[in-house]
Amino acid sequence: MALFQKKTTEEATVDFERLPKHIAIIMDGNGRWAKKRGLPRTAGHAAGAETFRTIATYCKDIGLDYLTVYAFSTENWKRPAEEVSAIMGLLKKYLLEAISKMEKDRVKMEFFGDLSVLTPELRELIEQTREISRHYKGCQVNICLNYGGRDELLRATRAFAQDCVAGKKDPAALTEEAFEAYLFSKGVPDPDLVIRPSGELRLSNFLLWQSAYAEFYFTDVLWPDFSKEELHRAIAAYQSRNRRYGGV
Ligand code: FPP
Repeated sequence: MALFQKKTTEEATVDFERLPKHIAIIMDGNGRWAKKRGLPRTAGHAAGAETFRTIATYCKDIGLDYLTVYAFSTENWKRPAEEVSAIMGLLKKYLLEAISKMEKDRVKMEFFGDLSVLTPELRELIEQTREISRHYKGCQVNICLNYGGRDELLRATRAFAQDCVAGKKDPAALTEEAFEAYLFSKGVPDPDLVIRPSGELRLSNFLLWQSAYAEFYFTDVLWPDFSKEELHRAIAAYQSRNRRYGGV
């Protein structure tokens, strides 16, 4: 099965007993999807938010343990203010809906990134969703917001160095496991499968540490058009691969 999937209607067969534990997705292509339709970019993000809702619900239904999505990067602030504000508005809408159905869905929600720069209203909603779902045991959905892999690694390194200066940690004793406790993704297993739609073949500062042994799947389908069938193709490709983790 190919690394890059051209748009197809071919059905893929998934072994639901052998799902990856953790899927991560770079939700890319919203702008191009809108442009193709003569719509403003913000309409692409609204469609992308709908796709996110569909895929997250489906991941919960099939029993996936973890789904992580890249919603807003540390670099995305460079976009026009109107677009940034539209994405934040969609997030607020999604969180309000998520809060109202959390009891029923029992999806655990987490957020990776520097949230301190978000509006107090958004931070309050994030805290509420975190708090309500803290003890849920089903699918965990991680939304990366104002997230950058390099920023995450710098923050972790800084925090570890401070603990060393304070005499709480010993640099000589640092292990991968101990370092992971300083990452936003603390406690979450590494992604097994990273999906990037829209035809771009880049990681774009997403989960740099965590993707060390991930399988990658790229497709030229734009994120708003990404469907359950696309997800099946990605999982089937993953299931056809032989993961060796540096071994033979
Ligand atoms: C990348 O596409 C997409 C983003 C930077 C924003 C993603 C945001 C959402 C899907 C909506 C809000 C999220 C949630 C979780 C409710 P792009 O704009 O770079 O597309 P392009 O490359 O075609 O221009």
